Amino acid sequence: MDSEAKKLLFDSLYSTVKAELCEAPGCHDFDHTLRVLRNARAICEMEGEGPDLFVVELGALLHDIARPEEMASNGKTCHASEGFGKAAKLLKEAGCDDALAEAVSLCVKRHRYRGSDAPVSREERIVYDADKLDSIGAVGIGRAFHFAGRTGARLHNTEEEALSSEAYSREDSAYREYLVKLRHVPERMLTKSGRELAVRRAAFMKAFFAEIEAEIGGGER
Ligand SMILES: [Fe+2]
Ligand SMILES: [Fe+2]
Repeated sequence: MDSEAKKLLFDSLYSTVKAELCEAPGCHDFDHTLRVLRNARAICEMEGEGPDLFVVELGALLHDIARPEEMASNGKTCHASEGFGKAAKLLKEAGCDDALAEAVSLCVKRHRYRGSDAPVSREERIVYDADKLDSIGAVGIGRAFHFAGRTGARLHNTEEEALSSEAYSREDSAYREYLVKLRHVPERMLTKSGRELAVRRAAFMKAFFAEIEAEIGGGER
């Protein structure tokens, strides 16, 4: 596929994804998709020769395409598994050949990686890392507070309150999300470049939560 055909295909899918995600909540809206796309391009560039940039770009663009189906089913439908078929259909309708459609839709299927469906190809690993990267650092802090605000959680709580609480409770604070999940993200990255970026973002998050602890506990003086 020449660069003009690639651009036409990308632009057409960009409009489709934007329309599909217009109702998605703040943490997983089209802005999230665009950040993941930027992260994916950055990781691809850092990784050097090897990964197919176009597969990575389309995989990042389409990775959360089935969020609306997951929301409509109250979480019963997994957006990654559902997204696999949905992405393949959209790609073929847009004129992709079978090999490209398969490579991209596998990035969608494996971007979540909960137990099974581990990312295999370099492109799948890059899309996975790009998505994880958006959950940490300054953006990750913003998203964690955004989510906690929507579920009615407290601004901050102690480590004990956070760790002994349930998800979606008043104690399901941004700090709980950090302690339970986000601080472990760097060890779960699958590419060298993704890990490098994650370590930097994780350090910022660690400093942020140390500061909020100090301010709230009076330890800043
Ligand atoms: Fe996702
Ligand atoms: Fe995502």
